[in-house]
Amino acid sequence: MNSGKMENEMQLTENSNVRILAIETSCDETAAAIVENGREVLSNIISSQIDLHTVYGGVVPEIASRKHIENINYVIQEALDKAGLTFQEIDAIAVTYGPGLVGALLVGVSVAKALSYGLGLPLVGVHHIEGHISANYIENKELEPPYICLVVSGGHSHLVKVEDYGVYQVLGRTRDDAAGEAFDKVARAIGLGYPGGPKIDKIAKTGNPQAILFPRASMADNPYDFSFSGLKSAVLNYLNQCEMKGEVYSQADVAASFQQAVVDVLTEHTMLAMQETGMKKLAIAGGVASNSALRQAMQDKCKEYGITFYSPSPILCTDNAAMIGAAGYYEYCKGIRHGLDLNAVPNLKLGER
Ligand code: KG4
Ligand code: ZN
Repeated sequence: MNSGKMENEMQLTENSNVRILAIETSCDETAAAIVENGREVLSNIISSQIDLHTVYGGVVPEIASRKHIENINYVIQEALDKAGLTFQEIDAIAVTYGPGLVGALLVGVSVAKALSYGLGLPLVGVHHIEGHISANYIENKELEPPYICLVVSGGHSHLVKVEDYGVYQVLGRTRDDAAGEAFDKVARAIGLGYPGGPKIDKIAKTGNPQAILFPRASMADNPYDFSFSGLKSAVLNYLNQCEMKGEVYSQADVAASFQQAVVDVLTEHTMLAMQETGMKKLAIAGGVASNSALRQAMQDKCKEYGITFYSPSPILCTDNAAMIGAAGYYEYCKGIRHGLDLNAVPNLKLGER
């Protein structure tokens, strides 16, 4: 990068709007967005592959990568068209480079590098979880660190202290399955299919959350950590017992009771973190954060404890590129730049660069 370009960028950061073209391909959504100054979404295009993967009961990595390749250029063009902009009006490219499926991530990273090289634009690699957390900035213009964020998605369950933009302290994480993974596995077991989270959320509304007492796991050595595999096994055992006794179980009651167990554990651990850190701001993020029972429970608890609660709209909870543009902006302002040697890092840790 030459110094003229560098001066140019610094001026942009100080004086004018920074428009970031953001790209997200870590799992089964091909997404591109244009975000101005980290919080203004000019366009947010998501091409979901859910229908393709539903047939197989889950995401097939090879199919996901191929579909990203087919779709990515159209999705980027649509993001520009919706924003009414051309490539010449973009200031930087942000892209998710981990964690996620390696082949899927590589598609986004390769396209972002090609655009960065061809257009002479700075490249900012973004951590997917940092993106999920930053989705909260889009609709809550007043939200600033420090705060606590519960990140619950298909691949991750993290309780994080956001100390500053891009500065995270992970207080707790799952020891086994992620919360979303548990939703997906239980949904499959009770015959709801993929993706399980939204289906359980819907049918649980008609069930009794107290019908079956499923376990709520706590870890003795870290009260902030989660474990969902025991809960998943308890649901499977319950279904097996019903089958052996020739009893018909209620899908809605199993869904509601399972969901209640997840919601209880997530709210209890999060509220403990709020009390022990003395923080007064709580955000939630990730696909499971769109769960209606979880949102309601968190809202109620926050009201009870005098905590300000932030949650992105459901469309910004599940995978999207607007959140990558939000996170990318704060990295960009800090001067973080990646070179053309940027690679996909499937197991990238939060806070690592
Ligand atoms: O954040 P996300 O789109 O992708 C990952 O980064 O993993 O999260 C997807 C996960 C899936 O496991 C899906 O079942 C779950 O989020 N999910 C939900 C709901 N909507 C999506 N889980 C519970 N209730 C929902 N309404
Ligand atoms: Zn995600």
